Amino acid sequence: RKRVVVLLSGNGSTLQALIDQQPDSHYDIVGVFSNRPGVFGLQRAARANIPHCTINHQDFSDRGTFDQHMLQSIDQLNPDYVVLAGYMRILSSDFIRHFSGRLINIHPSLLPKHKGLNTYQNALALGDREHGTTVHFVTDELDSGAIILQASLPVHPVDTVQTLEQRVKAMEQKIYPLAVDCLCSGRLIGKDSVVWLDNHPLPKQGYL
Ligand code: GAR
Repeated sequence: RKRVVVLLSGNGSTLQALIDQQPDSHYDIVGVFSNRPGVFGLQRAARANIPHCTINHQDFSDRGTFDQHMLQSIDQLNPDYVVLAGYMRILSSDFIRHFSGRLINIHPSLLPKHKGLNTYQNALALGDREHGTTVHFVTDELDSGAIILQASLPVHPVDTVQTLEQRVKAMEQKIYPLAVDCLCSGRLIGKDSVVWLDNHPLPKQGYL
């Protein structure tokens, strides 16, 4: 079984899905870190008896120092993979390089559309017919690493940010544990900006 560390900043519904699927998967969540104190995600970790702690970015003078501290704390847990689950901090290049090929994220849009924040607002404002979520490897460029898995759904005319978010999050809770399990079972690897599944390269998404 592979050792997984989860980073989050908030509610942790994605972490909860990973916790719930752990018994049927090839991973153990060995630690949870939050950059924000008191968030519900930490309580979810506590309830599941997973070691957890806050490293508050506001206690550090700059991103580099904070990330270095984060990196060293994560390394102490010897993880095979680092999984971002609603971690709302931009990571420094040193951090990303250190965990290269072992660092994944889930982002609530059909990348390469709607990178960054406010994806639901943007999708609605542009009248998108579909929206969704993407699991991808993390690289230096924001929300741009090789795609592992996407899930999409139709946007209804009556959708609001809340209704859309609710449906996308329900999909995230299904596909993230699946992607993490695939990675941890050794079926999935990210190499040279290409994702390989069962020794076959996945089709390129055209933006790497
Ligand atoms: C998830 O929807 C995830 O896709 C998003 O944050 C949410 C976290 O929810 N991540 C990003 O926007 C990263 N750019 P949670 O705290 O309930 O797991």
